[in-house]
Amino acid sequence: MSERVSIFDTTLRDGEQSPGCSMNLDEKLRMARQLDALGVDIIEAGFPIASDDDFAAVREVARSCRRPVIAALCRTTPEDIERAWEALAEAARPRIHTFVATSDIHLQHKLQKSREEVLEMSCQAVRRARSFTEDVEFSAEDATRSDLDYLCRVITAVIDEGATVVNIPDTVGYTIPSEYPHIIRTLRERVPNIDRAVISVHCHNDLGLGVANTLAAIVAGARQVECTINGIGERAGNASLEEIVMAMRVRKDLIPFETGIISEEIYRSSQTLSNITGVHVQPNKAIVGKNAFAHEAGIHQHGVLKNRLTYEIMTPESVGVKTNSLVLGKHSGRHALNKKYEEMGYQISRAELDKAYKLFTKLADQKKEVFEEDLLAILQDGIAHIPEHFKLRAVQATAGTAVLATALVTLANTETEESTTQTSAGDGPVNAVYEAIDKLTGLKGNLLDYTVRAITHGTDAVGEVFVHVEFDGVSYTGKAASTDIVDASARAYLNAVNKALYAKARKQIANNEQVLADAM
Ligand code: KIV
Ligand code: ZN
Repeated sequence: MSERVSIFDTTLRDGEQSPGCSMNLDEKLRMARQLDALGVDIIEAGFPIASDDDFAAVREVARSCRRPVIAALCRTTPEDIERAWEALAEAARPRIHTFVATSDIHLQHKLQKSREEVLEMSCQAVRRARSFTEDVEFSAEDATRSDLDYLCRVITAVIDEGATVVNIPDTVGYTIPSEYPHIIRTLRERVPNIDRAVISVHCHNDLGLGVANTLAAIVAGARQVECTINGIGERAGNASLEEIVMAMRVRKDLIPFETGIISEEIYRSSQTLSNITGVHVQPNKAIVGKNAFAHEAGIHQHGVLKNRLTYEIMTPESVGVKTNSLVLGKHSGRHALNKKYEEMGYQISRAELDKAYKLFTKLADQKKEVFEEDLLAILQDGIAHIPEHFKLRAVQATAGTAVLATALVTLANTETEESTTQTSAGDGPVNAVYEAIDKLTGLKGNLLDYTVRAITHGTDAVGEVFVHVEFDGVSYTGKAASTDIVDASARAYLNAVNKALYAKARKQIANNEQVLADAM
């Protein structure tokens, strides 16, 4: 039996920090459930002291995912650690992850502390964290640019205080595969109590070496790796989970370690993340890119048809990429749809099925063939858990080279059950539609980002529209899919409107509860 390397996923913490990748609570929960299904060992769910939203994310992920360890990040101050512990209170398997920088450049310019002071801060933090839980991780931020003797001293001291995992991050993506293993081996040789902790690595990708460095560190003795789905993360990102796991699997001969990852869930995890954030995976991205298994060159196609192993080192199926299969048609019923979703690994509620079925019949009327990817689009578009204050009843837009774009939009207010219509002109049909929606909702949105892409094949493909819209200074994402991109554009924008209204209503309820609590 091979040794095990633990997979520590930080998509919801380090990944979420990167521009365009922020997620709301429901989205983080959806992603966390998918990470659980993927089989990651540890989910780092947030940095609780950073914001109330981060706190809530850690708490809710801890409530909902009971198998994996749930980690919360904190600096070394008592308030940080206590806040992390508060957020983890209901976790089945909590971990406090405390960090401080150990490189001289960080000590001098960021912390303005001496090495002795940082050593003491590290020990105190681990001691305090251990007073709450037995599972404590310590990270020496910027470890790869730290003095190696000093790093050994800090790591020895924190293990003495009870750290069970010691993380050696390459915070700025500076190290290279011939140097990083030397750091890991030195720690194994020179830290006398190293056998009492697991060595973890955490690589950023500034030189494009995050995955290579991680693999080199595993060979040198690291037994936990920190990574993110699709490699999202600060700046150039973090080492990508799917690449690390599949490299270990494909090159078992040279990296003979097990992980708990269910590789068939990799593609779905990647898709779930890009559907939530709207940050699409580049086509040539290893493992999960659209072209990762596409053989274009004739000579390659010829070889693959004769024997897949000629040009394929792993099968698309092994990472959960399905070849296009026709699944359902116009006459398929609700039961068949539910069964198909179950086969695809989705358990959906009765209400979600009703909604999905409505969208499915609409799509089946428009398209000759309905594929699994269409069903996925329906699921991702249609059954978002945001209550719909406004629903699109009708949209019509005209545009052309020589005419002013105009739109006519009818919205239903689900509270009053009234429908109202507005017309507007604009700079193109989508802008005209958005102007009309603003008039109807009374909310002025500032469109920060708009993307449209075909998510299924053919001229009757389903197009997905993704928007970032700002209302009152807060940015919301919205998305929708349809064979008609004006319809998808309108519904994506409304999705963001409904999220903004929902957030406002939730804030109002929280304020009222606070007023009541204060009055008691
Ligand atoms: O990159 C880094 O050093 C980090 C630490 C907080 C682990 O993200
Ligand atoms: Zn990091």
